[in-house]
Amino acid sequence: MKTRITDLFGIEHPIIQGGMHFVGLAEMAAAVSNAGALGLITGLTQRTPEALGKEIARCREMTDKPFGVNLTFLPAVTPPDYPGYIQAIIEGGVKIVETAGNNPQKWLPVLKENGVKVIHKCTSVRHSLKAEAIGCDAVSVDGFECGGHPGEDDVPNFILLPRAGEELKIPFVASGGMADGRSLVAALAMGADGMNMGTRFIATKEAPVHPHVKQAIVDATELDTRLIMRSLRNTERVLDNPAVERLLAKERELGANLKFEDIIGEVAGVYPKVMQDGDVGAGAWSCGMVVGLIHDIPSCQELVDRIMQEATDIIRGRLDKLI
Ligand SMILES: Cc1cc2nc3c(=O)[nH]c(=O)nc-3n(C[C@H](O)[C@H](O)[C@H](O)COP(=O)(O)O)c2cc1C
Repeated sequence: MKTRITDLFGIEHPIIQGGMHFVGLAEMAAAVSNAGALGLITGLTQRTPEALGKEIARCREMTDKPFGVNLTFLPAVTPPDYPGYIQAIIEGGVKIVETAGNNPQKWLPVLKENGVKVIHKCTSVRHSLKAEAIGCDAVSVDGFECGGHPGEDDVPNFILLPRAGEELKIPFVASGGMADGRSLVAALAMGADGMNMGTRFIATKEAPVHPHVKQAIVDATELDTRLIMRSLRNTERVLDNPAVERLLAKERELGANLKFEDIIGEVAGVYPKVMQDGDVGAGAWSCGMVVGLIHDIPSCQELVDRIMQEATDIIRGRLDKLI
């Protein structure tokens, strides 16, 4: 399938694996890219720019296809060494970066000078237009369904994508709630040039996470995610578990007085415990409503091939016959 996104990134299928903390290691990105989609290494999971450089080199040993790096700009008292990470990306010869979080404007000139294409993740039309205005090459439009941070507007993709389609000139992919060929066809119908998946790619054979995490995703339904940190204006969609219920009880109790320190036990340092040790109840970890559509643990190649076959069957079979 050819779209503006496959052209932009030089990939076979219009599917991207979004950055995921402690999931987006070289194994994940390489498996997705080898399947003809676009895999991304998650930059900040690597503790230092040097470690990111090594991860990029490791990924290059596992694939000769294009892959990228996610760089998440977090509001932090002591920010990570962003200039160092960007240097590692450029020196590693990576030509695609997914930015997320704060406005990436400051970093665009150096990325552009080095021939890096930038896709910025946005949860609203106004942020998407800003990304276009500052010179991003594409946008990943992340709807309310998404795992991770859906923003504070709560607009689901059935509205957000066509709205983005009405306003944007640059290509965009649909992100949040995407799982299969049906998602891809729907995303294309709503004006997107492809789709980005997070949660779905965790339940694959190659995802470098503990089997308990994959099983938790297969076992969960669309009713099993919760929104946390709303009162901090840092809303995150996570998989429900007793630690999340504890956190939500504190949120209800403290209301507008809640501070980050009150919930630090449920949110800080959780990812290595969950993803590496398989302690899925260790705290709050991102997960999309799309868990309700995930019933198996295929290889990335099987997953991507199945999506493309299903999308083709829907377009050529079911939809074409309706007219
Ligand atoms: C476990 C997990 C960790 C994530 N970590 C990050 C991250 O570090 N940076 C980022 O930009 N997005 C992160 N995301 C969001 C994904 O890149 C993607 O936008 C989102 O998962 C899409 O929604 P979906 O899960 O419904 O497919 C994460 C998502 C999950 C499920």
